[in-house]
Amino acid sequence: MLFMCHQKVMKKEAEEKLKAEELRRARAAAEIPIIWILGGPGCGKGTQCAKIVEKYGFTHLSSGDLLRNEVASGSDKGRKLQAVMASGGLVSNDEVLSLLNDAIVRAKGSSKGFLIDGYPREKNQGIEFELRVAPADLALYFECSEDTMVQRIMARAAASSVKRDDDNEKTIRARLLTFRQNTNAILECYEPKTLTINAERDVDDIFLEVVQAIDCVLKKKQQNAAQC
Ligand code: AP5
Ligand code: MG
Repeated sequence: MLFMCHQKVMKKEAEEKLKAEELRRARAAAEIPIIWILGGPGCGKGTQCAKIVEKYGFTHLSSGDLLRNEVASGSDKGRKLQAVMASGGLVSNDEVLSLLNDAIVRAKGSSKGFLIDGYPREKNQGIEFELRVAPADLALYFECSEDTMVQRIMARAAASSVKRDDDNEKTIRARLLTFRQNTNAILECYEPKTLTINAERDVDDIFLEVVQAIDCVLKKKQQNAAQC
């Protein structure tokens, strides 16, 4: 009888522990923001992400960097990806989303938030991300003229010791075309959660607006978590 009683207490304790852990996870998930970083080639996505990481300690996942890592690994898959990237087109979403998802899963326990840089690049990528990973809290769209974007990429290529394969005039034009063909549909689909930021300005002026938007998201997340 005493043994059964003890077992019941243990079971109850285990259930309570599980509930507490579920609650902790629900709170953590509600608190961790996911932010999509959108904009054409060279608009300044990576530059703003670096500043966000410095201020907020978020995890920066650039779809382009993840793909370039795969290319650098020298794998067969990498060689196929390189060909698509060199053409200025889009790699299949299965490849990109699986790289992103793996990186998110790896960082999840310790991350304070995710910056998904260069994704989605077409409407369906956004839909699949929200179905397979999690809903995004905010999309920051850095709006910039094509002339400025080309100038920035060319300046980056001239200044950098390691030039990106796709930073040449022909591929830049193709990247711009891909961007032009897909962006309006993304902006229309995600209009309620998208903030368009004029990216023709100084890096720090742009960042002031970025900070306001992220602070707003964090505040909302904290309020939601408190209700969990
Ligand atoms: P990706 O690597 O994402 O390249 P991108 O979108 O073309 O953009 P960049 O990384 O060149 O520019 P950025 O906006 O980060 O600007 P940065 O801050 O560096 O993608 C590469 C390829 O991978 C794609 O073409 C595609 O093939 C594939 N891919 C990626 N994602 C994919 C996806 N989701 N699906 C399918 N395929 C995918 O700034 C540029 C320069 O400007 C720097 O020198 C910087 O110092 C300067 N700068 C920045 N801001 C300012 C400012 N405000 N004023 C003056 N200078 C500035
Ligand atoms: Mg970049």
